Amino acid sequence: ASIHDAFVAASKEFFGTATDQGLLQRDPNPAIIQANFGQVTHENSMKWESLEPNRGSYNWGPADEVVDWAIANGKLVRGHTLVWHSQLPQWVEGITDAEELREVIRNHVSTTVGRYAGRIHHWDVVNEILAEDGSLRDSVFSRVLGEEFVRIAFEVARETDPSAVLYINDYNLDQANYGKVNGMVSFVQKWVDEGVPIDGIGTQTHISPGMGAGVQAALEQLASAPVREVAITELDIADAPVEEYTAVVQACLNVEKCTAITVWGVGDADSWRQGDNPLLFDYNFNPKPAYDAIIDLLS
Ligand code: G3I
Repeated sequence: ASIHDAFVAASKEFFGTATDQGLLQRDPNPAIIQANFGQVTHENSMKWESLEPNRGSYNWGPADEVVDWAIANGKLVRGHTLVWHSQLPQWVEGITDAEELREVIRNHVSTTVGRYAGRIHHWDVVNEILAEDGSLRDSVFSRVLGEEFVRIAFEVARETDPSAVLYINDYNLDQANYGKVNGMVSFVQKWVDEGVPIDGIGTQTHISPGMGAGVQAALEQLASAPVREVAITELDIADAPVEEYTAVVQACLNVEKCTAITVWGVGDADSWRQGDNPLLFDYNFNPKPAYDAIIDLLS
């Protein structure tokens, strides 16, 4: 059985992976994704710097290819990501006028979400906007607009595609009562109370051995925020130990609001964590023990 089918049989929505245009052109990536995963996230090509490197001039080709491939193959797509301080083009970085930045965010979000309306069902509307202590991270967005950019991005995404599930996504949300987890829950509580349309919290879950055991408590704390769902959005675990991967999958199974898991890539050779071998398929694209252990756990 595929890992995705087994996860769906356990009442979850999907088990997916990150990929991108170039990777989909290299065998055996497409066949592995077709056979094993139910969802894809663009690893890079949906980011602002890739989509709109110059103001108003969009480069849709790579992002479109991934979306088209996903739909042709019956896979869901997570849109990653609309507003992020990193992989942000210089022309956005340099904006100092508040009204100009509001307009630029509105345009980017409505143009991008609008293009894929009805085809992309989950969006990382904002990514990595918190500092480790749980305060708002310093960025052009927070410097020029304070918290207001969060409301603008979510409201425009909601207006543009009312059926899309809108996420706030971040990393280092892997242990309960950590500053950033506390900050995430209290900010989301506050913003939802103020009417900001946030549907879900994504926890990237780039972790190391020893951390898997804490993931369930962290997910429970995130799920205590007034959101419909939480998801593990970019999972990878250094050395891919069996017990660490199964602990994370079990954590999602045990937390009702946890709807999905996405691993951050297919084969170790293509991982952003070079040398960590953190994925479910090895350098030769053979499934690793952690893959088999997840299948066993789910069946
Ligand atoms: O596309 C250029 C290519 O033209 C150039 O020749 C090459 C030379 O270095 O760089 C290429 O761009 C690289 C890009 O990946 C595409 O391969 C960038 O240098 C490199 O920095 C970029 O890294 C990506 C990273 O985000 C950037 O922050 C990783 O692939 C991607 O896995 C990683 O993903 C992030 C998530 O979006 C957010 N959460 C953390 C996660 C891991 O860092």
